[in-house]
Amino acid sequence: MTQSDSNEDTGPADLRVRPVDAADLGEIIAIDAEVTGLEKTDYWYELFHRYGAGRTRQKLFLVAESGTDIEGFIIGEVRDWEFGSAPCGWVFGISVRPGARLAGVGARMLEAICDGFRHAGVHKVRTLLARDNGLILSFFRSQGMMAAPFIPLEKELD
Ligand SMILES: CC(C)(COP(=O)(O)OP(=O)(O)OC[C@H]1O[C@@H](n2cnc3c(N)ncnc32)[C@H](O)[C@@H]1OP(=O)(O)O)[C@@H](O)C(=O)NCCC(=O)NCCS
Repeated sequence: MTQSDSNEDTGPADLRVRPVDAADLGEIIAIDAEVTGLEKTDYWYELFHRYGAGRTRQKLFLVAESGTDIEGFIIGEVRDWEFGSAPCGWVFGISVRPGARLAGVGARMLEAICDGFRHAGVHKVRTLLARDNGLILSFFRSQGMMAAPFIPLEKELD
């Protein structure tokens, strides 16, 4: 995979996007805790085992590194024939450290995961976002993502 080579004209000059390593988990947990207000240590270790360890083309967990700092992370996977749809890439997690935002880190990570999806043989990327999260909507729209022909449904379970 050529994740570190993608979209190199944006982000800090020394920014490198690469697959996650176990040693990155402390910083990832800290970024997520800063952004969400919740420290979910067990969740991140579990996610690392599912998406980071034993890398496959289908599951991608990448970090953006500048110097010795982790500036953000992105997670996604290729899902096959879900909802009657041809295989495509799904991004289900992205976060950039608040102090590192608006410098192209998010764009670099999205481009890198899209490179990974292309490498896995798919040509479409999707995501799902909360209606009231204008920041993430602005970001994905700026990267060329448009409304998809799906409707999310839910109900409370007793
Ligand atoms: C969304 C997020 C990943 C963007 O990361 P970033 O590194 O700051 O984004 P970039 O610098 O690559 O910005 C790319 C484009 O996104 C848009 N964008 C990013 N932040 C924006 C903001 N605060 N307001 C409006 N547009 C914004 C802009 O169009 C920007 O391009 P520009 O700088 O040329 O105007 C980051 O703000 C973040 O982590 N937010 C919280 C994540 C979150 O809510 N996750 C939950 C869902 S998984």
